[in-house]
Amino acid sequence: MVAKLIDGKAMAEKQRALLVEEVRGFEKATGRPPGIAVLRAGEDPASRIYVASKKRTAQSLGLNSWEHVLPEQVTQSELLGLIERLNGEEEVDGILVQLPLPKHLDTHAVLRAILPQKDVDGFHPMNAGSLFQGMPTLVPCTPLGVMKMLEEIGCGVAGKRAVVIGRSNIVGRPMAALLLNASASVVLCHSKSDVRAETLRADIVIAAVGVAGLVRGDWIREGAIVIDVGMNRGEGGKLCGDVAFEEVSQKAAWLTPVPGGVGPMTIAMLMHNTVQAAKLRCKR
Ligand code: GUN
Repeated sequence: MVAKLIDGKAMAEKQRALLVEEVRGFEKATGRPPGIAVLRAGEDPASRIYVASKKRTAQSLGLNSWEHVLPEQVTQSELLGLIERLNGEEEVDGILVQLPLPKHLDTHAVLRAILPQKDVDGFHPMNAGSLFQGMPTLVPCTPLGVMKMLEEIGCGVAGKRAVVIGRSNIVGRPMAALLLNASASVVLCHSKSDVRAETLRADIVIAAVGVAGLVRGDWIREGAIVIDVGMNRGEGGKLCGDVAFEEVSQKAAWLTPVPGGVGPMTIAMLMHNTVQAAKLRCKR
């Protein structure tokens, strides 16, 4: 079997076209567009690229966006002070703190300081808890994008065996919760798991572990759906995923490329969450 490619770029474009209409409707009703504030501390090169891309996409959809760049040495109380201020600003519907933060900062405390209604990353314990109880509000963007991709290819998740590799708060855990909420049988794998034994039984494999080419062709059942969330720098700085693309494309029915798969959908979902947060705050 040769896998069909899941075109994340085209799917994200479709989501953005739908959002433009929603943004116009919101602005007409309230006199202002939805707005997102993005905070970045330090000069991590990947974070700089991601934040610039988020800002560009927000502007292209007609959203208000503010970028706050803080020095590497910013203190916890300075960062919390800025979040506190943004929590109180009427025109700011969404607040995103780009991760990872410099090591001296307490990431959990920072994420807890964001008002849950403005938490467009869905990382606040209140939003994470609601998701795990099957009552999602603002949902982390990457897993939300993956669910949309599965829907777009007509993959009904209910009753399927889904294996998620990686238990991060950003992707793995919320991904498992979303799949479970959609009635998949879910296995969440980590460094102590026999991952191959699990993926060999899976209808859906989601790799979000940050190890280039970890998932090999002989780990995958013929006809499975494979979603690659990995963003690794391979030889010569080339962007590559967690999945050995050539090998797996000979086994899977569907496969996401890297780049051009999950990445564009993540940013589209951030915009979606910002519009949702604006609507919820304004009850529209
Ligand atoms: N760093 C890597 N992925 C993400 C994400 O989805 N949100 C934030 N805030 N930081 C990240």
